[in-house]
Parts: sequence; structure tokens; C-alpha cells
Amino acid sequence: MTELLNSKLKMNHKRGFASDNNSGVHPSVLAAMSSVNDGHFVAYGDDPFTESAVGKIKEEFGEDIEVFFVFTGTAANVLGLKALTESWNSVICADTAHIHCDECGAPEFFTGCKLLTISTPDGKLTPDLISRHMHGFDFEHHAQPQVVSVTQATELGTVYTPAEIKEICDYVHSMGMLVHMDGARICNAAASLGVSLSEMTAGTGIDVLSFGGTKNGLMYGEAIVFFNRSLSRNFKYIRKQGMQLASKMRYIAVQFEALLTGRLWYTNALHANRMARLLADEVTTIPGIRITQKVQINGVFAVVPTEIVPELQKEYFFYIWNPETSEVRWMTSWDTTEEDIRGFVSLLREKMG
Ligand SMILES: Cc1ncc(COP(=O)(O)O)c(C=O)c1O
Repeated sequence: MTELLNSKLKMNHKRGFASDNNSGVHPSVLAAMSSVNDGHFVAYGDDPFTESAVGKIKEEFGEDIEVFFVFTGTAANVLGLKALTESWNSVICADTAHIHCDECGAPEFFTGCKLLTISTPDGKLTPDLISRHMHGFDFEHHAQPQVVSVTQATELGTVYTPAEIKEICDYVHSMGMLVHMDGARICNAAASLGVSLSEMTAGTGIDVLSFGGTKNGLMYGEAIVFFNRSLSRNFKYIRKQGMQLASKMRYIAVQFEALLTGRLWYTNALHANRMARLLADEVTTIPGIRITQKVQINGVFAVVPTEIVPELQKEYFFYIWNPETSEVRWMTSWDTTEEDIRGFVSLLREKMG
């Protein structure tokens, strides 16, 4: 066992720019997990830590909500959507949405719904873009549009302003439909915009939020927040059938408690965003590198000569976003340092000749 660990540690575990999921756990979060490790507590969420964490989330988002913890962001999205839909419905989303590109068809598998995608220049939906799927209501041959899913911040690192989200919610609600928000990086969006978490959600009319924690310093764990409480009526059964009812719930709950205590969520997200800003500012001084999206959160999208990508990846791992255009994605994290950025930029400068 020790040998195995030693050989794994020899692998390159340097901080890279592949994903905010690749980072470790924030020390305050680890300490919080450790602090609830003594003794026995009732399982499945009937423990004081879960109650307290739900209270903290209510302080952030408002009292009039229902909160359910799950393990992964995919589970939060899929089960949240399941609560809003029947199998004959459709869910409208951007063609870059995580629910469409990166969840192995789980939303379709679990909900039975058809995903209707929309191509966007920047990952953001608008009422105008959504309107092209607003037809076929009451027609039995057509999957019935029921939900619009927006991602805040988007998979392309851009953010919706609260006014833009409200415009979508007002439009979607006027069609008798509901709005889901994939908030895997909602903290980065809030830190970027300088607004509260509730302004972008309760304040705009979002019905259900996948509130992400893992990318912002947790070990694992996401919260599903229902702003429209009536939609959560049967959710405890949906979560159990969806295999996401954690027996040792307290370990997820205390992570959220830690994230929301002293606004750790904000400090972590702001730092990650600032590191991406620094990276973007530095790489734009290198001739031949082109940034392709607004840098609004902790991600930088750029076109880099294909031939140097493997060389860079050997030192600082990151993913190619679009092989056809040689566009790459660099993600920063709560633990990225200025030295990481400077080291990477100097390697990039060297390889660009
Ligand atoms: C936008 C978005 N939503 C949701 C997720 C959650 O995914 P996971 O199931 O891997 O926690 C991710 C993770 O990469 C994401 O980027």
C-alpha cells in the first residue's frame, strides 16, 4: 500500500490549469469534517450539523427555501431537473451546457426528457434564443417544453447579470415553464459581479438551483436549493431513488457550513477569479496568443499554436477545449498561486519563441 502511494506521489502533482476539480480541499473545510468525526450522530441528515448547515444556506438565500444535499454536481442537476419534469417534457439549454456535454446522458436517462440545445456565442441564453424552441405546446407529437436550464457561471467562463437572468425567468414563467440554474460555479459568478448569491437566484425568479461547492474548496458535495418550495414536495423520494441520500450526511453538511462561514465561498472564488485575470493579462502580452472569451470568472479560453500544447501540458496540465481551432481552457482554483501563473506564463513565452 505504501509503495503504491509512493509511486502515485511521484506522478506530477504540480498545480496545473486543468480544472478547479483537480485542486485539494480547503484546510478549513477539512478541519470542519474532522471536527464532527467524534462520536455517533443520527444518519441520513437528522443530525444537528445538517440542520445548522441548512440554516446557513437559508441565511444566504432566504428563509423560504428547501435544501437537499447530494454528492455530485451531475446528481444535483439531474435530480433537480427530475423534480421539475415528466418524461414527456423537454429541457432547453445551451449546446455547451454541462447537462448536455458532460453528464453522459444522465439527465435524459433519469428524467426521460429530451434536451433541446441552442448554439450561443458565449454560453449564455437569452429570451430571443430560447424562443426558437417555444412551440409545439399541447401537441402530442412534440416533447412539451417545461424547463430552461441556465448555467451560472457558464461553461465558457462568462456570467449572466441578475437582470439578464430575471429577463429569462420572466419570459420562461410567462410561458408556464420553470427555470433551473446549474450553479456549479455560482460563487465565482457572484464574486465576479459583486452581488450576493440570493440576488442571482431568489431575486431573479430561479425555481431550482444546483449550488456547487466542490469546485470552490469542498471535498465533495452540492446542495439543491428549491426557491419554489412546492416543487420539492416529493424530492426526498427522488433523492433516495437517485441514490444520493448520504447516510453520513454530516460530512457534506459541515463542508457547506465551513464554506458559508466568514464568507469563505467569496474569498475562495474571488481568489480563483483574480488568478484567471492575472493569467489573462499576462498571456495577452505574448504575441500569437488569442483569448477567445471574456475572462469573468476562473477560466481563460485561448487559441494557442497546436504544436506547443503537449510541451506545455507536460509541465502544467490543462485540457484542449476545441482541437479544430486549437482552443484550450485554463482553469484556476482557490489554491492557485501567483507563482503558478508566472511559471506557466514564462514557459509559454519560451515555447512561443
Ligand atoms: C457547469 C458544471 N456543472 C456541473 C458540474 C458538476 O459535475 P460533477 O458531477 O463532476 O460534480 C460541473 C463539473 O465539471 C460543471 O462544470
